[in-house]
Amino acid sequence: AVEAKIAPSMLSSDFANLASEAERMISFGADWLHMDIMDGYVIASLRKHTKAYLDCHLMVTNPLDYVDQLGKAGASGFTFHVEVSKDNWQEIVKEIKSKGMRPGVALKPGTPIEDVYPLLEGENPVEMVLVMTVEPGFGGQKFIPDMMNKVRTLREKYPKLDIEVDGGLGPSTIDEAAAAGANCIVAGSSVFGDPEPGRVISLLRTSVSK
Ligand code: DX5
Ligand code: ZN
Repeated sequence: AVEAKIAPSMLSSDFANLASEAERMISFGADWLHMDIMDGYVIASLRKHTKAYLDCHLMVTNPLDYVDQLGKAGASGFTFHVEVSKDNWQEIVKEIKSKGMRPGVALKPGTPIEDVYPLLEGENPVEMVLVMTVEPGFGGQKFIPDMMNKVRTLREKYPKLDIEVDGGLGPSTIDEAAAAGANCIVAGSSVFGDPEPGRVISLLRTSVSK
């Protein structure tokens, strides 16, 4: 089975204390730190303080412009949007790999899952698909349950793929996402807004693993 990866979204953290916020999440049992980009400078400054896997989600229109910068800054995963890379995704994926990062592709709620299929085939496939469960932009939005059809379809086709969900995930939505087949869970407000973030992180992990 696929492994659970719990990724607190640092967009909901206290930016003035990014290093200690990151350390706190790792001590609570987080696997990855989800970074909504932002720019390479933030990654580089956090990288100085942590060895954690930095799961970077590029909500930008020209991802190719960021590959070199993020590679040098110490990003671990580089996930770009399919909507802005129809013509050059092969080049983007090659660049990401050459900088030692792990390539992923994200899709917005209005984008059909079929659009990512080409990126999962051929000699340079992406290694993760991020299914957005809210419109990209900010934390604290409501989970869109219809997106679980995309996750289910993808899981049936690719049993071993890392499938990440992002937006509105927390104790009340995790079971639905896990049942559909998501294994990488981004959670911002539900983790940072809880008095016991460690409890939420382990609850998310338990739901994915059962
Ligand atoms: C939304 C971002 C998310 C966001 C999630 O555009 O991609 O990573 O921080 O926040 P929550 O978990 O609060 O919906
Ligand atoms: Zn994100």
